Amino acid sequence: MNRTGFVGWRGMVGSVLMQRMRDEDDFRDIEPVFFSTSQTGKPGPDVGKDVPPLQDAHDIEQLKTMDVIVTCQGGDYTSAVYADLRKAGWDGYWIDAASTLRIADDSIIVLDPVNRDVIDQGLKDGVKTYVGGNCTVSLMLMGIGGLFRQGLVEWISPMTYQAASGAGAQNMRELVAQMGYIHGAATDLLDPSTAILELDRAVSDAIRSDGYPREHFGQPLAGSLLPWIDKKLDSGQSKEEWKAGVETNKILGRSHNPIPIDGLCVRIGAMRSHAQALTVKMTKDVPVDEIEDILAEANAWVRVVANEKEDSIRELTPAAVSGTLEIPVGRLRKLAMGPEYLSAFTVGDQLLWGAAEPLRRMLRILQE
Ligand code: HSE
Repeated sequence: MNRTGFVGWRGMVGSVLMQRMRDEDDFRDIEPVFFSTSQTGKPGPDVGKDVPPLQDAHDIEQLKTMDVIVTCQGGDYTSAVYADLRKAGWDGYWIDAASTLRIADDSIIVLDPVNRDVIDQGLKDGVKTYVGGNCTVSLMLMGIGGLFRQGLVEWISPMTYQAASGAGAQNMRELVAQMGYIHGAATDLLDPSTAILELDRAVSDAIRSDGYPREHFGQPLAGSLLPWIDKKLDSGQSKEEWKAGVETNKILGRSHNPIPIDGLCVRIGAMRSHAQALTVKMTKDVPVDEIEDILAEANAWVRVVANEKEDSIRELTPAAVSGTLEIPVGRLRKLAMGPEYLSAFTVGDQLLWGAAEPLRRMLRILQE
């Protein structure tokens, strides 16, 4: 039975991971040990079996006694501990939600419904570091993984609509505070008999006012959008945009022969589900009904939504998928540029398939 250490299990991704592990009875076959950066010695969480008191997450000697360590503590923790732990001779499996080790040569990005072959090969080759992918990348691959598997992708331009949760828990709170601030400023003007431009002016004034809460986003999100996520790279891409190409190709095990994937990443006022509009240049002209079959058969969670207005606005939205593992993909049609140009729109919960789910599944794979 694997002695498995958990770090960062109380944060947003960690809490979702704990919930999913309880739901799937994942604690049954492991010996869980919970670590903390601040509450050493306090009782561990209720996971349906006895667990020892919380251990110090910076204690290398304690960490060394684990067969597996799962961390959702963030990149700073990984940077502070991982290298020292390996230097101290620890040879266990490190499963990490943070991006720090994603691009390292000796790590594998885990998304087993898409790259189980790459994971299995890694395990055979003795790879010990398994990292969850960027949420947008993982969600895109869960949605259109079938096209990659069939060799049908020449390039993709993803344009994203990313939720507040990707920026952190405080940002989710701030988004709701922004919504409330707008409503508070406009509440007397909602009667249909009042002039619409008065309402519009009150909302615009509120969004631009000093009182509008923007400490975490820096600028208004509710009632607006933010066309930049993460820092700028020399290429002019944001780091989030850079990840699309680099991580997708690494997940697919084809970094040596990469498929170009590049587009713009935009933050919108959804809570926890990321959406993306994809322009796919296909390697050949395939009829849309065949494409639908290829997509639908790729994994158990993707679901093709008919390219109809009612279906799309009901099922292909953050409101419909948040809190579920479903990955709807729709708006499938050939673009005016030619029969090899396909549009697609897909959406998924960025805390589930985008973060926690691939990690708990990797833990399961280690027990097979
Ligand atoms: N970087 C992502 C975002 C979330 O800001 O939405 C984590 O993958």
